Amino acid sequence: KHRIIMDVDTGHDDAAAIVLAAGSPEIKIEGIVAVGGNQIREKTLANTLNVCQHIGLDVPVFAGQENPLVRKRVNAGYIHGESGLDGPHFAPRTKLAEKERGVDFIIRTVMENPGEITIVALGPLTDIALALILEPRLKDAVRHIVTMGGSMGMGNATPSAEFNIYADPEAAYVVCSSGVPLTMFTLDVTLQVTLDDDMLSHYRKMKTKTSTMFCDSMNAYTEACQRHGFDYPAMHDPCCIAYLVEPEIFTMEKRKIDIELKGELTYGRTVMGFVDPTAGSQVGVTADAPAFWRLLDRAFTRLP
Ligand code: BDR
Ligand code: CA
Repeated sequence: KHRIIMDVDTGHDDAAAIVLAAGSPEIKIEGIVAVGGNQIREKTLANTLNVCQHIGLDVPVFAGQENPLVRKRVNAGYIHGESGLDGPHFAPRTKLAEKERGVDFIIRTVMENPGEITIVALGPLTDIALALILEPRLKDAVRHIVTMGGSMGMGNATPSAEFNIYADPEAAYVVCSSGVPLTMFTLDVTLQVTLDDDMLSHYRKMKTKTSTMFCDSMNAYTEACQRHGFDYPAMHDPCCIAYLVEPEIFTMEKRKIDIELKGELTYGRTVMGFVDPTAGSQVGVTADAPAFWRLLDRAFTRLP
């Protein structure tokens, strides 16, 4: 079983990643930290609590950082809406966030369980960078960091940069240069797993509490993506969970990852090194989409 900490900026695809993790018996979620990203931290935290409560996921949820390390805050409300998770309706919230700061929870949990904990980072890397700065031994104690971010080709926040990296490039730099074991799913691979009309109507027919939330959220996500020139929305963040559950779904390449911090037009771009078997990081290359959907189907059967 993978013991994971999720760091999320919930968000439509973050919510799908929480569903996939909660419904996968290979995964044990130790806690979830909400960072500012798709929307301001107050909203991503509320969305995360709502999703957990809705699907009956009883794990501690923590507030991560509100602001990027250096740059001015940006968000992706143009995709995820004013709330950060427009679409689904949630019952009044009773679930509360923990008092402990998200970054402290990450450091404490990893250091108390050396070699055991995988961090799944699905938003800007602010919390992870800060944890590595405050506790340098974290890099050897953490089992693995799996993150969604970056692009070898076009970006989605700017022509050069993918949103999670663009929203905190300095944090991404800290993580990518730390030497921590790192797996990155870039747009090049996550855009291979898109939810088309057939898949959406397949999930509509399930009519469970969790699948209904998913479909309501995907309706809003689809509309927003289509306004921005994409045919169908991509399952960016859930790719990281699917990789832990069934790594064979993806092909990977070992490459060094650098982050551009100085370019006027390329700020926040991920610059991948040549394929190098000795590199400490790997990036996803291809995805078997039908195999991904089989995992999501199974997750729905295991949740309310
Ligand atoms: C990433 O940015 C966010 O909007 C999504 O949740 C995903 O983590 C895709 O670029
Ligand atoms: Ca995200």
